[in-house]
Amino acid sequence: MADTSTKNGTYKDYGAPHQDLREWLDRVEDLGELQKIDGADWNLEIGAIAEMIYHHTPDDPPTLLFDNIPGYEPGFRILSGMTNSVKRLAMTLGFPEPSGAMDVVRWYRDRMKDFSPIPSRFVNTGPILENVDRDQDVDLLKFPVPFLHELDGGRYIGTGDLVIMQDPDTDWVNLGTYRVMVHDKNTVGLWMSPGKHGRLIREKYFKQGKPCPVAISVGHDPLMFLAAGNEVQYGVSEFSYAAGHRGAPFDMIKSEVNGLPIPAYGEICIEGEIVMDDERPEGPFGEWTGYYASSVREDPVVKISRVYYRNNPIITMARPGRPPSDYTLSKSVIKSALIWDQVEAAGLPGVQGVWCHQNGGGRLFNVISIKQAYPGHSRQAAELCCNVHAGNYLGRWAISVDDDIDPSNLWDVTWAMSTRCDPVDDIDIIRRAWSGPLDPRKRAGDNFNSRAIVDACRPWDWKDEFPPVAESSPELAAKTMEKWKHLLD
Ligand SMILES: Cc1cc2nc3c(=O)[nH]c(=O)nc-3n(C[C@H](O)[C@H](O)[C@H](O)COP(=O)(O)O)c2cc1C
Repeated sequence: MADTSTKNGTYKDYGAPHQDLREWLDRVEDLGELQKIDGADWNLEIGAIAEMIYHHTPDDPPTLLFDNIPGYEPGFRILSGMTNSVKRLAMTLGFPEPSGAMDVVRWYRDRMKDFSPIPSRFVNTGPILENVDRDQDVDLLKFPVPFLHELDGGRYIGTGDLVIMQDPDTDWVNLGTYRVMVHDKNTVGLWMSPGKHGRLIREKYFKQGKPCPVAISVGHDPLMFLAAGNEVQYGVSEFSYAAGHRGAPFDMIKSEVNGLPIPAYGEICIEGEIVMDDERPEGPFGEWTGYYASSVREDPVVKISRVYYRNNPIITMARPGRPPSDYTLSKSVIKSALIWDQVEAAGLPGVQGVWCHQNGGGRLFNVISIKQAYPGHSRQAAELCCNVHAGNYLGRWAISVDDDIDPSNLWDVTWAMSTRCDPVDDIDIIRRAWSGPLDPRKRAGDNFNSRAIVDACRPWDWKDEFPPVAESSPELAAKTMEKWKHLLD
């Protein structure tokens, strides 16, 4: 693949994966998508700047690197929006320059057809050990932990994080991106929604009457974040999954206290135990649904006994809120590709595309496009899109459309819903599905919701009699474009 010029830089073929977040940042700079911001305050300003940029820069917004944060050592930095442009995301995954988000979904999906996770390689040392704070020396607030939204219950060190836990009965190491609030200098709250793998692991330890060991990386390679924040199959380590996308193993170091794997080239990793006998209020937190949805709950805390960090460390932040936010594009792309992969694995033919819209936070408004091949195909598509593991948690709308509809284009999708779907015949409801405390439409304690299965394909039994679409034929459109394209300039 040849290097090409982009709006502000160059899309390069590096021929090898980036070594770590720092080399990745050099590449983002080559791409012309790195914006350095000096002097913003950890107290609301950094969060509000991220919101402003991501609400107002529709095309390829930059990644934001905050430095010289008042009250903190210069060089102690925060990064927002790691993978939130189509080009940055494609570059991170080692793809050619994309022309749009659906290219990345397709390539990711194609890669999954012949994909093997690559186990981590254990090493004895690495930059993450440049500084190690132990026991009494632990002070999480030596880092510029941001206070992100006005009604948050505290400062969140973990948003674009990796919560690393090992199943007590096997050698399976799970990663999840779960929010982490600082209670005090060596105690944090960790919120894992019911059903999440990390929560299942915690419950296993607690049932055995043991505290649950945990390491939390709060600065790292974006490939790891892409894996941790999405529903990778139970029993598969997201470290190996991310390495499969990298095409090479990640180097890990065993943590001092619990022997958990921590990324050797990571930026900051904290280690401790979730304890059963100390619960404190966690939240509220501005969430991906666009609301402060989860009320304050008493949750078991994590006691931190080690902090490992590089010189001049970088916190990788993901600030949820009313969409779009600084990570929602990448969420939509990866989730769409995972759902596509899982519906095909469940036997669904003819899939042309899947898109989980950012408007629904990448979960609540998901569309699948198919080439209809048999009666019932369109229902099967929408139902699977809703029910495969990657699409199941906290969904709302699952919509199937024909192959002339681009599932990522809301004009197309809402036109199909408005014209090819008769609600009484074409909307089914799934009841008591997997929801959780973040669902703004549910009251506290109700962890079920319902799903609308919307069939917005032309009705199979009379699709050939369906009125023709009133737009230029592809030939006329191409001829017009060739002769009159300058009118669009
Ligand atoms: C930025 C971001 C923040 C997230 N925060 C949380 C959270 O606080 N709690 C939670 O249960 N899931 C959260 N998630 C969703 C989980 O990371 C996701 O469901 C993931 O698949 C969990 O890992 P698991 O499948 O191993 O349980 C978040 C995802 C992202 C991308």
